[in-house]
Amino acid sequence: MTTTDHGNAIGSDDSVIPQAWETYKAEDHAIWRRLFERQSKLLVGRACAEYLAGLDQLGVCADGIPDFRKLNEVLDRTTGWQIVAVPGLISEAAFFGHMAERRFVATRWIRSAAQLDYLQEPDIFHDVFGHVPLLTNPAFADYLQAYGRGGLKALRLGALDMLARLYWYTVEFGLLRTPDGPRIYGAGIMSSKGESIYCLDDPHPNRIAFDLKRILRTRYRIDDFQETYFVIDSFEQLMGETAPDFAPIYRQVAELAEIEPGDVLPTDILVDRLFDGRTDT
Ligand code: PHE
Ligand code: FE
Repeated sequence: MTTTDHGNAIGSDDSVIPQAWETYKAEDHAIWRRLFERQSKLLVGRACAEYLAGLDQLGVCADGIPDFRKLNEVLDRTTGWQIVAVPGLISEAAFFGHMAERRFVATRWIRSAAQLDYLQEPDIFHDVFGHVPLLTNPAFADYLQAYGRGGLKALRLGALDMLARLYWYTVEFGLLRTPDGPRIYGAGIMSSKGESIYCLDDPHPNRIAFDLKRILRTRYRIDDFQETYFVIDSFEQLMGETAPDFAPIYRQVAELAEIEPGDVLPTDILVDRLFDGRTDT
């Protein structure tokens, strides 16, 4: 599984660097292609239609590690987002600052052949294959920018621990309800073979209807598949429910107990029974 956290202010370098696409080796491109072929097949019928449409538009992704300049041409025409390369972990302020201006920060390194299935830190496959396709979707693109602005505000309010959970349970590990059944939109799932199967097919994890305050209280695991996924009805719903001022919500949530990753509350709406059965495999 791959994880993306909000970075670490200690010892971080916030500078934007060139991707230096020309410096990737044939082995690096080969690893990308292996991952790409495997995931793009697996995600048919698992990823949401909005993601798959974006992946299609970013056709350059299939040949090898994509050149950010080419991705940026496509993004420029669709939602105006841009990808910028950074050395690794950057400060939270820089991460949110870029996002608030529709710049998505991505690492430029790719995992080794020995790490195909498991990574502690995000690499370019996670950052680009996982995140970038949905940046072509107008509603999701607006949500992520709003999140960036909300991040800068949460920094000022000392509420980042709470807000980070929203990122985790939406941008990284979110599921979307569709008439055909649940579909993936979270990037942490998209870039993981194991979790893209587990999150939909395994009976163990909870799949709970999106509930903002509930998410802000819920801790998450960075070292294993999730025990709980939150399911949205649409990106418009996500945008609408996160539009209110969070300042009073943070104050309220700070008074309530945290919720463990696997907990189910009596008030939770478990959405599985509302899904149609999956007919594809
Ligand atoms: N409405 C949030 C606030 O006032 C901002 C936000 C929007 C945060 C979307 C996350 C996602 O802080
Ligand atoms: Fe990520």
